[in-house]
Amino acid sequence: MHSSGFYRNNNEELCVQGILVSDLAKKYGTPLFVYDSGLMKERYNVFLDTVANVKGNIHYAVKANDSLAIVSYFTKLGCGADIVSIGEFEKCIAAGMSPQKIIFSGVGKKNSEIEVALKNKILQFNIESQEELEDIYKVSSKLKMTANVCLRVNPNIAPNTHKKISTGEKETKFGIDFKNVNSIYKKLHELDYINPVGLAVHIGSQIFDFNFFYQAYLNLKNLADELVNSGYNVPTLDLGGGIGIHYDNNKAPNFSKYKSIISDLFTNTDYKLNFEPGRSLIAEAGILITKVIRNKKTKDKNFIIVDAAMNNLIRPTLYEAFHNIEPINKTNRSKILTDVVGPICETGDYIALDRKINKVENDELLAIRTTGAYSSVMRSNYNTRPDAKEIIIYENKDYLIREPETIRDLILKEKVIKYD
Ligand SMILES: Cc1ncc(COP(=O)(O)O)c(C=O)c1O
Repeated sequence: MHSSGFYRNNNEELCVQGILVSDLAKKYGTPLFVYDSGLMKERYNVFLDTVANVKGNIHYAVKANDSLAIVSYFTKLGCGADIVSIGEFEKCIAAGMSPQKIIFSGVGKKNSEIEVALKNKILQFNIESQEELEDIYKVSSKLKMTANVCLRVNPNIAPNTHKKISTGEKETKFGIDFKNVNSIYKKLHELDYINPVGLAVHIGSQIFDFNFFYQAYLNLKNLADELVNSGYNVPTLDLGGGIGIHYDNNKAPNFSKYKSIISDLFTNTDYKLNFEPGRSLIAEAGILITKVIRNKKTKDKNFIIVDAAMNNLIRPTLYEAFHNIEPINKTNRSKILTDVVGPICETGDYIALDRKINKVENDELLAIRTTGAYSSVMRSNYNTRPDAKEIIIYENKDYLIREPETIRDLILKEKVIKYD
C-alpha cells in the first residue's frame, strides 16, 4: 500500500491510504474535497530537509488552505504560520498553535487587527509600507507593548508567473521599495515599542525558474549585510514561499534545487531564516471529487457538465489554471475533446477548456487533481450553491473536517423585511 498520495490499485481505481475514493464519494456525496495527511507529512519532512543546512523555521502560509484540520495537522508536525488576517490568526489559535510561531503579513492590516496580534505577542509583523509602520507604532505606543517588525522588501523582480500571483514587481501593492529599505530600517531603531527583527521578501507563487529566488535572496542578503556592517542588528531574513508545483503531471516540486540555492547563500551565516511555503506543502495532497450531471453535445463542441463549479474551484477562471481531471474508476477508454463545466450561469464557470479526457458516463465520478491549495479556501455560495464537504484521511481512516452550510442555513442568515 502507498503511504502517501493518491494512486491507482490493480483495478485502476483511485485510492488513498487503502481506501477507494469511490467509497468516500458514496459516503459523503459530491462535490467533495479529500485531503491526504500522508502526503502533507511527507512534504513537510522534505521541506525540513530542504532547510536542514541553515537555521530555518517553517511557517505554513495559511492562505493556501485555512481549514482547521489542515492547520492543526501542520501545527502538530511542528510548523508555525504566516497569516494575513486576524481570522487566520484565530484559526491558528483554535488549531493549537502558539502565537509565538505566527508571522503577520499583508498590505492591509487594520489597527484593530494589529492590536489583537500585539496583545497576543505574535512572533513578528512583516510590514509593507512606511504608512503601515506609522500605524503599528501608534498602536504599540498606545498599548505600551513592543512590536517585532520585519520590513518586506519589494525587489522589483518579475518571476515569470501568472500576473495575478506575481508580487515582487514595483507596480504591485506589495513591499517597500528596495531603495528605501535601508533608511527605514535604520529609523526603526529610533522608535520606542518597535523592535526591528529583519527583512522579508516574497516575489510570488508558482515559480519554476529558481534563478529568480536566487536573485531576490541575494539582494535581500546584500541589503542585510550592509545594515549589519553599519552596526545594525538583522537577526532574521524571511524568504517567503512560492515554489512551483506541477499541476499537469503530479511530479514533486524541485526541493533539491531550492535546497542548493538556500545552502549556497546562507550556510555559515548568522541569519535565522523563515520560510513561508503554502502550495508546495498542501496542493497535491488534495483532490476535488465531482459527479457528471450530464454530457452535452452541440454541433461544435462537447461539454461534460459536473456538479463542482467555480464556487468550489475558481482557479481555472481566475488564473487560467490547469488541473488534471480523471475518472475515478477505469481510465483506459477512448478520449474526447471537451470542455468540463459547472452549473453556474457564467461562461467563465469551467474546470477545463478544450481538454482531451476519457469519455465519461452521466453520474460517473471524476477526480480534479491538485486542489489542496487556493481551492476550497476561495469558495463562495454564488448561485445560492452550498459549497463542498471536506474530509481528511489520517492513518487509513476518513474524517469529516468541514460540513458546509445547507441552503436552509444560507437562507436563515438573511432577512426578509417588510417593504410596506
Ligand atoms: C507573503 C506570502 N508568503 C507566502 C506565500 C505562499 O506562497 P506559496 O503558496 O506559493 O508557497 C504567499 C502567497 O502568495 C504570500 O503572499
